[in-house]
Amino acid sequence: MAIVLWYNGGMRDERKTTENPLALLPGPLLAWFRENARPLPWRETRDPYRIWVSEIMLQQTRVAAVLGYYARFLETFPTVEALAGAPEDLLMKRWEGLGYYSRARNLRKAAGIITGLGGFPDTYQGLLALPGIGDYTAGAIASAAFGRREAAVDGNVLRAAARLTDDRRDILAPGTKKDVRAQIQAVMPENVEDIRIFNQAMMELGATVCVPKGPPKCGQCPGAAFCLGRLRGTAENLPVRGGKKERRIQEKTVFLLLRQGRAALRRRPRQGLLAGLWEFPNIEGTLSEQDAAAAVSAWGLEARAWRSRLAAKHVFTHVEWHMAGYILEVSGPGPEEFCWVDSAGLEEHPVPSAFARYYGEARKLLDEGPAGR
Ligand code: ADE
Repeated sequence: MAIVLWYNGGMRDERKTTENPLALLPGPLLAWFRENARPLPWRETRDPYRIWVSEIMLQQTRVAAVLGYYARFLETFPTVEALAGAPEDLLMKRWEGLGYYSRARNLRKAAGIITGLGGFPDTYQGLLALPGIGDYTAGAIASAAFGRREAAVDGNVLRAAARLTDDRRDILAPGTKKDVRAQIQAVMPENVEDIRIFNQAMMELGATVCVPKGPPKCGQCPGAAFCLGRLRGTAENLPVRGGKKERRIQEKTVFLLLRQGRAALRRRPRQGLLAGLWEFPNIEGTLSEQDAAAAVSAWGLEARAWRSRLAAKHVFTHVEWHMAGYILEVSGPGPEEFCWVDSAGLEEHPVPSAFARYYGEARKLLDEGPAGR
């Protein structure tokens, strides 16, 4: 039995709680959420398609970054059938800049399956069987769209739960998340209208009050009175995140090759990181100007004028790209795999944001037109 100390009219008194402070949370949490929830478009619908798209976009991506993409994506693909028939490059274009592009491919693949099934699976297990849907997303959709009593535990929820229960286990260790999910599942409300918003409320608490950076905003928290992390002073140091692997650093040299008002793009391999998207030609390693010149000739191009250098860095989950870049005018045929695009052509090709600096520069130079060069 956990003992909770709390302050009552200036008098310190001790109250006994259940073993699990999470059990005290649902009532105050739901009341707080009904008053304080941010009005987000996927909270105003029960349409599983719209909820599903939002949850996939929100995987590893902040709400503010998702909102514009969400509206544009649904305008382009308003139904699951429209998504199932989406052309690859248009799909990627609508995802361009959101990152983790396999999410978009899995969405389309799953849309095909859902269309084949004649509708959305309406159970946790049925949803879990779709590509791109893990236990968190299955729980989020099953509860919000279908009122199923299934917990959804993402990083926000894990953090809030670890603090509430003063759980000092490594949240990255196998088994911790599963156990937290079971604890939350056990305290979920029974009423369907409450179920629909419970997971959203947990996420909202983690995202806006029990925040990851800086001290948690305990003054606004509906669970403050029984939060063991707060009462024991451990909250700010929770959750424990051990054994996190260092990111690998990969050096690259990126070429912004300009030929008669067009820039060279090529498609990335079909497998692996950023599969099938378009990129500026690049080579592993940081090349000196001499080595870069050799690479340009090996592509069957002649360097006419070296314009400038442009370095950039991009951080992925497991790897960081440290990029050196050369911007130059070339002539000659170049490899067949290169696609030479003007400004409009550049817009049509999905280029991941890892190349954003080169993309921005290319757009500027191509918009200037031949006269500007
Ligand atoms: N993060 C993941 N899912 C979310 C949701 N439905 N609302 C807000 N943030 C989220």
